[in-house]
Amino acid sequence: MRALVLSAAILLAGFAQAQAQDAAAGEKVFAQCRACHQIGPSAKNAVGPELNGLIGRHSGSVEGYNYSQANKDSGITWDEATFKEYIQNPKAKIPGTKMIYAGLKDEQRINDLVAYLKQFDAKGQKVQ
Ligand code: HEC
Repeated sequence: MRALVLSAAILLAGFAQAQAQDAAAGEKVFAQCRACHQIGPSAKNAVGPELNGLIGRHSGSVEGYNYSQANKDSGITWDEATFKEYIQNPKAKIPGTKMIYAGLKDEQRINDLVAYLKQFDAKGQKVQ
């Protein structure tokens, strides 16, 4: 029994560590986005809108950011699936978007990026 509890604890610890690594790797992927997007407690709109609280947010909804009509009209609520599809090819998911980004194709890097983005709530505080 003790061995069982112990191995469960080791498993859990390993899982937490794997997640942390994903977010850390995702931060490196986010370097590509940083030219245009900010995230975190002091994030402001720049070339692109700030990305705090992205997962669960409606597309085109950041106040004070001048979106393209295409983005505003896309009717997307950003969840993991829609975001993953979008980031692979933004112009295919939202034709007419003014986001100039060729797309991220590597699945692992996309997953890491999502883990990184998910850490930030709407105010840019880390929730994990
Ligand atoms: C060259 C600048 C640029 C780069 C690089 C860039 N973006 Fe964007 N992004 C934009 C612009 C501009 C918009 C607004 C699009 C519009 O209004 O059509 C945008 C919009 C978005 C949106 C939609 C936001 C909303 O509120 O609807 C998401 C999500 C997004 N970008 C994520 C990313 C991520 C993640 C990366 C990095 C992998 C990235 N972008 C790289 C410029 C950029």
